[in-house]
Amino acid sequence: MTAVAAPVTAAVALRPDADVRLHGDVTVIAHPFRRVAVRGLGPRITALLAGLRDRPATVEHLVDRLAVDGGSSAEIATLYLALARLDDMLVHTLDGLVRVVPVTREAAFEPRALAPTDKVRLSRFAVVRRHGSLLVLESPLARHRVELGSEAMPLVAALAGPVTVVEASRGLPAVADAHQALGYLAGAGMVDVAVDGDFPEDTDPALRPWDFHDLLFHSRSRLGRFDGEFGATFRFLGELEPEPAIKPPPHGRVVPLQRPQPTELPPLDAVLEARRSVRDYAPEPPTAAQLGELLYRSARVKGLLEPNDSMPYEASARPYPGGGATYELELYLVVRRCDGLDAGVYYYDPLGHHLVELAHRAGDAEAALATAHQATAGAVVPDVLIIVTARFRRVSWKYAGMAYATVLKNVGVLYQTFYLVATAMGLAPCGLGSGDADLSARLLGLDWVAESSVGEFLIGRA
Ligand SMILES: Cc1cc2nc3c(=O)[nH]c(=O)nc-3n(C[C@H](O)[C@H](O)[C@H](O)COP(=O)(O)O)c2cc1C
Repeated sequence: MTAVAAPVTAAVALRPDADVRLHGDVTVIAHPFRRVAVRGLGPRITALLAGLRDRPATVEHLVDRLAVDGGSSAEIATLYLALARLDDMLVHTLDGLVRVVPVTREAAFEPRALAPTDKVRLSRFAVVRRHGSLLVLESPLARHRVELGSEAMPLVAALAGPVTVVEASRGLPAVADAHQALGYLAGAGMVDVAVDGDFPEDTDPALRPWDFHDLLFHSRSRLGRFDGEFGATFRFLGELEPEPAIKPPPHGRVVPLQRPQPTELPPLDAVLEARRSVRDYAPEPPTAAQLGELLYRSARVKGLLEPNDSMPYEASARPYPGGGATYELELYLVVRRCDGLDAGVYYYDPLGHHLVELAHRAGDAEAALATAHQATAGAVVPDVLIIVTARFRRVSWKYAGMAYATVLKNVGVLYQTFYLVATAMGLAPCGLGSGDADLSARLLGLDWVAESSVGEFLIGRA
């Protein structure tokens, strides 16, 4: 955006990815998440709209252009109607300050009328970040992204605490411009405006319990609230190698595990009815044979799948279902008490169905067990703590926007599989909702960004 002298100019534009075409009598205006067809705009108005693609113009300028091109007063009225109809597709700009860009359907925009004494504050859900070569304000509550011109920075900086519109405007050379820009930020949902002394964000019972990061994650891991790439897009195909389907096992002493004999397990309905989280253990620990059976029935690799046209990566088949068959989850065992298996830290090799003993720093395994103990509110120190990690790139190589959400869903699926198998075997299962990702990365010798813990599951003997 280029800086201009005050008074700042309010203008409208279309997104750079908008497409405007005339098909017979119908003008179609489309961008990635919205398509509007309007009959009877004619070639002159269609050309004006096409010219708005990433090039802001004031409404007065558009009207003048139409008049100069020979547009009748009826056509000028049609232009006004067309702009009103396209409201939720329009980019609204205040030159040099802000550019309010629609990022969802139904992104109607109305600058908020503010009084000089109104108290304003940046929404606690708003975040400033770099987007390409722009600084932008985004919020899961907003249907727009606000691109910030450099002249808007003092205004944003003033919005940390509750301030009046007049106070917030002091950092800008022209108070009227600041006032107008605040109206745009409030209209876009980035600024909270106090009503009778209270900020709506502080009093809304649906909003108050939301953590900033949770609501952002929710909005970004589902369709409908943002305009980014989403779904199985394989963005890195040909650029980054996918992670292998089977993690190359770490070095260490290999400890074979038993495979279960074909046995009669209790019927599914009995297992479902009996399943519960058990945090009080029998005096004797689980056996290595039981651990082998639990892992074999729940999490081994049953087969490998070669890449093909629709699945351009190697995959595997396992007892539990997994989004995209990427099977990014890895299992590590912190064994405190297990009959037939030394206390220690192990990686579960799901292809070979064996354990690999891991060297680790003294105290880290105990710290992981203590964290798990705390997560049960002190109810139990697990005999075996299963740490579930994710090799994130297995999933994010395929999925845009929804990769981490998919990982967490897969953790839930694995938990339930563990719960049912452990219950059927007479073991004591309990899933945990929290664990220390940094501690477990250190304990397991992992690069936190590439692979770290996303779940913890406790096993004892019921
Ligand atoms: C995702 C998830 C997270 C859980 N987190 C914990 C936890 O951190 N600590 C704990 O003691 N139990 C935890 N549990 C067990 C639940 O408390 C338990 O499933 C719930 O109270 C219902 O009881 P039930 O499993 O015995 O039917 C978790 C269970 C799940 C599925």
